[in-house]
Amino acid sequence: VNGTIGIGLIGSGYMGRAHAIAFTSASSVFDLEAEPHLTLLADVDAETARDAAASLGFTRSTGDWRELISDPEVDVVDITTPNRLHVEMATAAIEAGKHVYCEKPLAPTAAEAGELVRAAEVAGVKTMVGFNYLKNPITALAKEIIESGEIGEVFGFRGNHYEDYMLDPNTLVSPWRFDPRSGDGVVADLGSHVVSLARHLCGPIDSVAAERSTVIGERRDPDGRPMTIEVADEVDALVRFESGARGTVSASWIATGRKMALGFEVRGTKGAIAVDFERLNELELYTTDQSVGREGFTRVLAGPAHPDFAAFVPAPGHQLGFNDLKAIEVRDLIDGIARPDDAPWPDFREAWEVQRVIDAIARADERGAWTDIVAIDG
Ligand SMILES: NC(=O)c1ccc[n+]([C@@H]2O[C@H](COP(=O)([O-])OP(=O)(O)OC[C@H]3O[C@@H](n4cnc5c(N)ncnc54)[C@H](O)[C@@H]3O)[C@@H](O)[C@H]2O)c1
Repeated sequence: VNGTIGIGLIGSGYMGRAHAIAFTSASSVFDLEAEPHLTLLADVDAETARDAAASLGFTRSTGDWRELISDPEVDVVDITTPNRLHVEMATAAIEAGKHVYCEKPLAPTAAEAGELVRAAEVAGVKTMVGFNYLKNPITALAKEIIESGEIGEVFGFRGNHYEDYMLDPNTLVSPWRFDPRSGDGVVADLGSHVVSLARHLCGPIDSVAAERSTVIGERRDPDGRPMTIEVADEVDALVRFESGARGTVSASWIATGRKMALGFEVRGTKGAIAVDFERLNELELYTTDQSVGREGFTRVLAGPAHPDFAAFVPAPGHQLGFNDLKAIEVRDLIDGIARPDDAPWPDFREAWEVQRVIDAIARADERGAWTDIVAIDG
């Protein structure tokens, strides 16, 4: 370890906790280039921040996020607040010369994400966005299988992220997710994960056609008052990749019965792979060289032969969980910052590329026509 990196965490909800756990576990699991120090935590008010700092292991706390950004002991500003606050907070952090680790989606629009990319690149600060499913050893295995040519030439992709946490119109688990300033509803919330995986596995997307729908047009806010919903509950998009491959991207937060059905299938001329992250440690592989009568997908379990798995547990089939993906992400963040010639990934530029596709999906739906990604904030 070459030194310490001071972490300033803004927000201590679902993701704030996950990040705090990840900083702690990454230090034990990996041989990091530097030691993350849980320096300062900010939340909506002093009391909330103090309680969260005590339970998550931060040294100090503040009820004012701007104080966190100007704190000389904070090297990395870690943003886990509702989406609509990301741009203002990340902009201030970059202006203060801090590295920024921000949850997805980076910004409500590609134009705003693009501003952040330019600001970060001019300031020379390093950035990372929390597309944690790219860090799953199973995702790395899928990419390795595709790139080795094992499934031949890839021509088809299916990606989906289905959960049902917004199914009940009367219990709003997360009102800010319906704020149009947070981005385009489920397209931004869950669709962004699918788009990040699609790009990671099959390369840049060239154009999209799409339909979004708001199935539950009226909900009740936490005080029981009626609330008109403008953002999408579901989205289905057709995508064309620059490679010539075609596919689909779908997302729903009212997918009855589905809890974490983020999945993808990649079809090639010599085989296919299929993944469903409700089974986070499994990949199904089919190859066309099987004998007649014995054909089928083979279930491959994550194990120490796959990248990063052995750091957690030496035995195959002993599962990693969601928080472990965050620990891998944090390892990449810390090492990318500590090494002078390295940088964390996926960075703000990649998040901007994802957001261009998200924006194109909205435009394609509005126009009822195929829409080129180059037309979005190029
Ligand atoms: N990568 C993933 O898998 C994943 C999963 C869930 C959420 N997220 C992302 O993480 C972000 C947060 O989502 P969440 O589910 O943790 O939300 P949440 O509502 O559970 O937590 C938000 C936190 O931000 C705090 N906050 C709100 N306004 C603030 C302000 N002005 N100053 C300081 N703190 C403030 C809240 O008090 C709370 O602690 C979102 O961008 C979301 O899209 C990512």
